[in-house]
Amino acid sequence: MSDPNPEEPQHQQPHAQPATWVERDAAVVWHGFTQMSAYAGNAPLVIDRAEGRELIDADGRRYLDAISSLWVNTLGHHVPELDAALVAQAGKVAHSTMLGNGNTVVVELAEALAPVVPVDDPHFLFAADGAVAVEQALKIAFQYWVNRGVTGRNSFLALGDAYHGDTIGSLSLGDGGVFSAVFEPLCFPVVRTPGYVDPGWADKACAAIEAHAEELAAVVIEPLVQGASGMLCASASDVRRLGEACRQAGTLLICDEVATGFGRTGTLFASEQCGLRPDLMCVGKGITGGYLAMSSTVASGEVFGAFLGADLGPETFYHGHSYGGNALAAAVALEHLRLVQAWDVLGNVRARADQLSSLLGERVAGRAEVREVRQRGLMVGVELDPPAPGLRWGRQVCAGAVARGVLLRPLGDVVVLMPPLTTTADEIVRIVDALDGGLDDLAGASSAAT
Ligand SMILES: Cc1ncc(COP(=O)(O)O)c(C=O)c1O
Repeated sequence: MSDPNPEEPQHQQPHAQPATWVERDAAVVWHGFTQMSAYAGNAPLVIDRAEGRELIDADGRRYLDAISSLWVNTLGHHVPELDAALVAQAGKVAHSTMLGNGNTVVVELAEALAPVVPVDDPHFLFAADGAVAVEQALKIAFQYWVNRGVTGRNSFLALGDAYHGDTIGSLSLGDGGVFSAVFEPLCFPVVRTPGYVDPGWADKACAAIEAHAEELAAVVIEPLVQGASGMLCASASDVRRLGEACRQAGTLLICDEVATGFGRTGTLFASEQCGLRPDLMCVGKGITGGYLAMSSTVASGEVFGAFLGADLGPETFYHGHSYGGNALAAAVALEHLRLVQAWDVLGNVRARADQLSSLLGERVAGRAEVREVRQRGLMVGVELDPPAPGLRWGRQVCAGAVARGVLLRPLGDVVVLMPPLTTTADEIVRIVDALDGGLDDLAGASSAAT
């Protein structure tokens, strides 16, 4: 198009400030679980790179990743051995479909996982996200009974405060709450018994399992820790009793170890501490050390066997995802499992968990702003005790920690501490210092207000 006013003097445009990373981000990216109208104003970090257990933002500031990048990271970031495994696999093949075909590194991964998962004669159906691993488990449990010719076993028992992911099936198992209430009309009903906050939860669950024995396809739990509801903890013996009730009632047990799996609670899987051998187990998050999206539904040989039949027959599990069994993710997961064993990562989890427990006991648990500290291994919830609802203490304390160079993110008024599993003694001190500082800020603000 030609200039409509060729005689007009050309006005020099003032130099526009280059957009910041946050502005560029807010203009085109939609962040999950985030109100985008408030996103840019909430001082988000835009991460550019990482070293060890520290994330480095676009301005070069460093933050200790004390939430393991939403509970996925295990060995730290930029681990040379994992980087090398990724590069080596990229030199072979990045991805090939698992539908009707195989891939050597996925076979190797399943072979390496088989002896360490607490599932008898395990078979692995790989996917990419934890919620999908749960979704697959639900459908497998449902079809298992159909394939066996048993009618009526088509409902699920799930616990109060449960969280299993954000797809419609996993949301149906979850105990709702304000964030998912809008989707309730889409969800299917489940038998719901109280969660781990109720000291009698196991008795009530066992009684309901017995009462609904003929209707239940499966019982679904997060063994030992209900993570997303604020690190609510159960005793191993109570969880074991629930497992026994499932056996007695002949229903399947699904253990969702998406959060607890791969070492967080001090054993490779929380089910081990509870003496459970679930029929189906869901894993995700830490399986690749936090590198790549991978999850798996692990089925026992007994469950898997019910799906064998004629080619293209009705027993087949007609379900699969394009990126299920991604070769890059499998190569990293395989190397990750080797490192967890070679570096005695679980020994470090137990030692650092003990240290964290004593430090929190000395410096945090008795503070007036704190209602309760809950911990299993390196999964910790510090529940705050605000004097009134809506004060956003969780957010404020985490903002105080971030200002001190430690990345924390709350679940409501529960501050979650979940450092990577290779965290050091010095880093544990740094985390507690930052949390303590965030609590001091609160205390300072409330005394200034009075
Ligand atoms: C116990 C549990 N199950 C499932 C999920 C969902 O996993 P994803 O976010 O990978 O879909 C989560 C996520 O936090 C979880 O804690």
